[in-house]
Amino acid sequence: ASMLILNGPNLNLLGQRQPEVYGKTTLGDIETRCKAHAQAVGCSLLFSQSNHEGALIDQIHAAKGVHDGIILNAGAYTHTSIALMDAIASVELPVIELHLSNIHAREAFRHKSYIAPVAVGQICGFGAHGYILAMDALLAHLGAAT
Ligand code: DQA
Repeated sequence: ASMLILNGPNLNLLGQRQPEVYGKTTLGDIETRCKAHAQAVGCSLLFSQSNHEGALIDQIHAAKGVHDGIILNAGAYTHTSIALMDAIASVELPVIELHLSNIHAREAFRHKSYIAPVAVGQICGFGAHGYILAMDALLAHLGAAT
């Protein structure tokens, strides 16, 4: 299987950005761990980040026919972007919604997700380890062995 892990705005600052909320692990560290896990389970992986809503939408469109599914941490666009929701609905690829923090235990404006209705499911609250959980969840959903 082939998967795209797509990260949205401000996640490039992981490690230095509110470490009490998001942890001290950098996005580079997470990418290294995900690539090691991909190798261990025998899947191919593209790991990407953008601060721009339109660039994220372009990457979702480009994933069709290239990847079997997407893991999406859309950052704050989770709570605002009908355009991202529509992009996911348009490509008909399975999407796992991911967040480092438990968005349901935080401010009320983070409880609403435009991604959730078009996602297979949501993983949140497990910090950087959530990326590994999401990879296994996507592989299980695709019927591939983990
Ligand atoms: C986040 C949660 C969002 O509410 C926030 O805007 C982020 C990160 C997370 O991974 O916990 O940027 O998606």
